[in-house]
Amino acid sequence: MFSSFLNKYFQRPFLLIITITLGLSLSGPVLSGSAAEVWGKNYFPNVELTNHLGEKVRFFDDVIKDKVVALNFIYTSCTEVCPTETARMKNVAGILGERMGKDVFFYSISIDPKNDTPKILNDYRKKFGIGQGWEFLTGKEEDILLLRKKLGLYITGIQDRTLSDHNINLVIGNQALGRWVKRSPFENPYVLANQLGSWLHNWKQVRTQRNKYEDAPGLRQISSGEMKFRNMCTSCHVINGGLAKLPNMQQIGPDLFNVVQSRDRKWLERWLAEPDKMLKEKDPLATALLKQYKVAMPNLSLSAPDIAALIQYMDEETKRLQKVAGKTTAHTHESHGTTNKHN
Ligand code: HEC
Repeated sequence: MFSSFLNKYFQRPFLLIITITLGLSLSGPVLSGSAAEVWGKNYFPNVELTNHLGEKVRFFDDVIKDKVVALNFIYTSCTEVCPTETARMKNVAGILGERMGKDVFFYSISIDPKNDTPKILNDYRKKFGIGQGWEFLTGKEEDILLLRKKLGLYITGIQDRTLSDHNINLVIGNQALGRWVKRSPFENPYVLANQLGSWLHNWKQVRTQRNKYEDAPGLRQISSGEMKFRNMCTSCHVINGGLAKLPNMQQIGPDLFNVVQSRDRKWLERWLAEPDKMLKEKDPLATALLKQYKVAMPNLSLSAPDIAALIQYMDEETKRLQKVAGKTTAHTHESHGTTNKHN
């Protein structure tokens, strides 16, 4: 659906716009093919890091040299934004599919190396069901700090107070071309996959995802609740109830079909506002869900109006699916775009 929009607009002229944006967002001059020397070994420290398997790697030689990469900084005990970021990147990895570990590589570097040992990183990786081509790295605190600064993901004074203040942006780049871009992990995963899979490969690779116009659903009004759900929740949840065809992607959180009807309203409102606190307090239902899903639902700092809009959307979407299932064929379910369906 959205990807057909992308295919249309992700042509060369668009590159110019991105280039300008990047030049502003990364400190210093960026981009252009000959920038490889500027953004080469002299710029990036070749510090030693350890991956989730306990293997030693060098940042320049082993992690980024001659590769198209996505780099971000996380810590495994984060209850706020990092799990959402990891989930979103997992969607991007899912779209890139076979290319992960072949010509696109992801690296998540811990900013809490004291606690995030290789084993803890390996467990975190497993919990999220992360596959090939995506390593988790740890190392010396000062080396990691240096990398954050070099990648433009650290601002002294703002991001050195607590771990949760850290810059959650993601840097994607092609080291050989000297082309580096800062992106938000909350961008549409198809946009990120396109940038990694196509733009950073100098458009050489054939896009893996090319939807047909005739498959695109008709335009319809999107409520604020649906918008929020798409932006903040679809990396981990679907609303489906077995009623629509889903992509072959393992879901991180439960299917939210019928959740508004089946849960107590007060419980649901509080859960959306402060799931971390409820888990800490050992709320029985929250604890049981965590046991089943292993990943803890992050606190997304939702306001009361956000929560009301989201609940309304989850309720309406459930009823819509029920109604559709009641009277039409599977084809109708497939043409709807809210269930993360992108072939
Ligand atoms: C990083 C993944 C992630 C994100 C993002 C996320 N959730 Fe969750 N959510 C979970 C997991 C996992 C659970 C199961 C409980 C647990 O393990 O903490 C859950 C549980 C829930 C539940 C309770 C389900 C039940 O059966 O009672 C609701 C409701 C919910 N999430 C709604 C949302 C909404 C709405 C958003 C977006 C604003 C959202 N979640 C974003 C992972 C996520």
